[in-house]
Amino acid sequence: MDKLLVRSNGPLRGRVTVSGAKNAALPIMAACLLTEEPSTIEGVPPVTDVILMAEILRRLGVEVTVAGDRLAIRPERYTGTATPYDLVSRMRASICVLGPLLAKQGKARVSMPGGCVIGPRPIDLHLKGLQALGATCTVEHGDIVASCPRLQGARVHLSGAFGSSVLATANVMMAATLAQGTTVIEHAACEPEVADLADGLLAMGARIEGHGSPVIRIEGVPRLRGLRYRIIPDRVEAGTLMIAAAIAGGDVTIHGARTEHLGAVMDKLSEAGAQIEKLNGALRVRATAPLRAVEVATLPFPGFPTDLQAQMMALMTVCQGVSVVTEKVYPERFMHVAELNRMGASITREGASAIVRGVERLSGAPVTAPDLRASAALILAGMVAENQTEVSGLEHLDRGYADLEGRLAQLGASIRRVSEADRPSDHDARRAEHGAALV
Ligand code: EPU
Repeated sequence: MDKLLVRSNGPLRGRVTVSGAKNAALPIMAACLLTEEPSTIEGVPPVTDVILMAEILRRLGVEVTVAGDRLAIRPERYTGTATPYDLVSRMRASICVLGPLLAKQGKARVSMPGGCVIGPRPIDLHLKGLQALGATCTVEHGDIVASCPRLQGARVHLSGAFGSSVLATANVMMAATLAQGTTVIEHAACEPEVADLADGLLAMGARIEGHGSPVIRIEGVPRLRGLRYRIIPDRVEAGTLMIAAAIAGGDVTIHGARTEHLGAVMDKLSEAGAQIEKLNGALRVRATAPLRAVEVATLPFPGFPTDLQAQMMALMTVCQGVSVVTEKVYPERFMHVAELNRMGASITREGASAIVRGVERLSGAPVTAPDLRASAALILAGMVAENQTEVSGLEHLDRGYADLEGRLAQLGASIRRVSEADRPSDHDARRAEHGAALV
């Protein structure tokens, strides 16, 4: 098992370019199931979730080839309608093949994704939306079984207890592109990844209006053509790098970061005392640690993203004063609190909020990443901790970040990946430390 060894190494300086967005790439890959023509997607990040989605498409009979950041998808001969549990259980986003399969093949059998460490992840809104289009959906032996010979456009209200749903909006929008008549999705998710999916669908010949707003209107068409598309830069990766510059201090320019996707993050980092400058096609972040405490509530876009909550909390642990984080999208998404506290942070949970009392310095420790975004938070914390932090559980990091450690190292962070075999044993380490005395 790999680990990251992280040490504090002063301020970050330099330039870095953001990869393509994982959460845009996954539904856009699924959208290629809506046509029998070949598609090419560029800007796809080399992360394991993308590899898993490619494998899901292959199991459905689609040819997928990867060359650098470009995916070639050839669905000419696909006839599959079922996705297996062994893949679906490893990636919740696999649910977004449900809408395309139903629309194109008239039926789909997709294993129910389970809960996950960030809290319950229901799928009622996905089913509600597809049922409104005329599909019959049942749950049989742990699988969602959906069928409908031809979907019919309808008005669908997709609001749940925690607001809109990104992938439910994606699923219903994709299904509606081939439905008969008009579909109107109310309370649609406004996330840039949903708008990017809509732009991809438009490039395939779909008729969609209002994407990026809470009301999306889709006129069904009889068929879609193949896609040639470059996906948007990853706003979560960009935000993580912005917070990295804020926590370590320094002067970092992040190319590809889109200011229109990062308003809430820019606002909170500025409030904490970082200087954010919009450049042409880039964002420059300058900071002199320590920053000031802030209050953050996560919300659907354009609010502060839940996918940056853990990283922001890592920053708060070393801000001056008392910060508060309230998680309004996934009220249970606090697995990183215990690990940050092991590093000397002072965080207490109160329901869906966490109170973070800034400390002068964190102390390096062996920590285990409980989920994807928490893994980034622990790395950022390690960058300002005394001594070494060993982050394990990197399978989470690798699901969604393309070489985050390489990008941080390029900016001057002291961060190195080692596999268990490369690591000096405790005995070797003691020998190195104490020289011949221990021999
Ligand atoms: N919800 C329901 N019913 C549903 C679906 C969702 O109640 O049928 C609730 C969820 O439990 C949650 C809220 O609605 O409280 C929002 O969840 P949403 O459906 O928007 O999440 P998602 O679409 O499954 C995507 C991202 C997540 C990101 C969320 C919120 C992908 C592949 N995943 O998930 O990304 O946190 O939107 O922005 O796009 C990540 O990248 O680390 C990640 C978890």
